[in-house]
Amino acid sequence: MKAIEIRDKYLNFFKNHGHAVIPSAPLIPENDPSVLFTTAGMQPLVPYLLGQKHPEGTRLTGYQKCLRTNDIDEVGDNRHLTFFEMLGNWSLGDYFKEESIAMSFKFLTKELGIPKDKLSVTVFKGDEDCPRDEVAANAWKNTGISEDHIYYYGKDDNWWIAGEEGPCGPDTEMFFDTGKPACSKNCQPSCDCGKYVEIWNNVFMEYFKDKNGYTKLKQKNVDTGLGLERMAMLLQGKETPFDTELFEPVMKKLEELQKINIIESRRIVAEHLRSSMMIISDGGRPSNLDRGYVLRRLIRRLIRHMNKLQIELNQLSTLIDINVETLSEMYPELIKNKEIIKSVIIEEKDKFVKTLAKGEREFQKEINKLNGNKIISGQVVFKLYDTYGFPPEVTKELAIENGYEVDLKEFEELFKKHQEKSRVGSEVKFKGGLAEQNEVTIKYHTATHLLNAALKQVIGKDAHQRGSNITVDRMRFDFNCDHKLTTEEKQQLEDLVNEWIKQKLPVTKEEMNKEDAIKSGAECMFIEKYPDIVTVYTIGDVSKELCGGPHVKNTGELGKFKIKKEESSSSGVRRIKAILIDK
Ligand code: SER
Repeated sequence: MKAIEIRDKYLNFFKNHGHAVIPSAPLIPENDPSVLFTTAGMQPLVPYLLGQKHPEGTRLTGYQKCLRTNDIDEVGDNRHLTFFEMLGNWSLGDYFKEESIAMSFKFLTKELGIPKDKLSVTVFKGDEDCPRDEVAANAWKNTGISEDHIYYYGKDDNWWIAGEEGPCGPDTEMFFDTGKPACSKNCQPSCDCGKYVEIWNNVFMEYFKDKNGYTKLKQKNVDTGLGLERMAMLLQGKETPFDTELFEPVMKKLEELQKINIIESRRIVAEHLRSSMMIISDGGRPSNLDRGYVLRRLIRRLIRHMNKLQIELNQLSTLIDINVETLSEMYPELIKNKEIIKSVIIEEKDKFVKTLAKGEREFQKEINKLNGNKIISGQVVFKLYDTYGFPPEVTKELAIENGYEVDLKEFEELFKKHQEKSRVGSEVKFKGGLAEQNEVTIKYHTATHLLNAALKQVIGKDAHQRGSNITVDRMRFDFNCDHKLTTEEKQQLEDLVNEWIKQKLPVTKEEMNKEDAIKSGAECMFIEKYPDIVTVYTIGDVSKELCGGPHVKNTGELGKFKIKKEESSSSGVRRIKAILIDK
């Protein structure tokens, strides 16, 4: 079964079970500066999982483009992908464990035709935060799954949360038995020998976690995720996702073009090219910061591996054409964005080729200085990075190829110090996935609150925040408003914000009960997104908002506020881009 057929079957199945089909959100979260990329289908739904009413109802299904970068170094093996599609169904305070499990079982066995004996499932074994999930286990028994195919694991395996804080809960995971021989007597789904492959995860989201611990959500939700590429691979009896129709054409072309045969490199090129194309198509561009740096790193790594395969880099254009052809049935936006995808990737390639040539020469010089010592210090890695723009991951790969080790820990320490100084994008962030807070972004954050308050005075008290995104270069703020702002309105907004900056207003923070906060007139975007005790930031007597912070201590620190652009963001929502200029 082709991936697109699995997707169609999935959406139809859940539609027939009362779910509304929702479109995929972009790979780059629109209104959430705290994450680099959408990493799960539930992410765009957070406000609704927390209780806000979804316009489409309480049963939703859809596919979501996702990107996860923590496995980037694993790509090249036979299963890890950075970009993937997640199929999901969600209950927003509607059905819970029994119905969710019954539907999953029915879909797997009836729609996809997987024999029941090939399935094993895992459930939460219980701890001090949440009891053993006998309800889920019983629901599985009711489907006919035999007891010896049900496993109980702890939080490491059977608990799901996106990051450190947020909605979460125990989950039940479904595994497909590939039929490979067991690696030992103890071989079971948690074993990564390859016999069992995880195919679906149903999260029973009834808790909210913050730094104070767990509280119950006001509604019990189900959030499920099924990895499409992996399912296609299994149903097609293929060993890896690279053998499915999603990658086959580009893999074949690479094999044709290569002068050296390295399967891992072919996979890395195919995988990173697909991910880069998807990111660019959704608006991402290479840079040294945050998601731009992820994209830059993906493109650089794929180029390094084209070099290893000794494939001419001018073949990139053909490879992109092949991928558009292969993937556009599933992602039609690739057709429209084909030229921009090409120009971004080719421009980045040209830059990198220059950096590489210089960096490799310097790398060689450094190696010669080592006099037989086999460890390259973090200082050297840092110098190559800082002076020649040579990426640490490339130094590491070159080192390994030449039989050396690198002290990346020392590099990371030096890098951190450097980062604090210069606020340049980071490897560290790349791993953690969280946006960085620094002096500049903090100032923009406070300016955002001032702009939000100014809008109430200039546009009207119903003008509320609809989204925000901050980088070190600018702030972007979306708000509801039914008209294009006039020159006068923009001027009034700037004047008000600058006036408040001039007044050097104190910014204070207090914790309070959520209800009291709302009663006191504090502004907030999604009330449900917040726990019972909230942090409220007050700026003089002009602004009061629920917010996690951080903020400057005094508006006097902000510099001059200037609106650079005002445009439409979506229907009924306007977008302002503004900067702060140092005085
Ligand atoms: N959010 C869960 C996951 O990513 C289920 O979709 O696995």
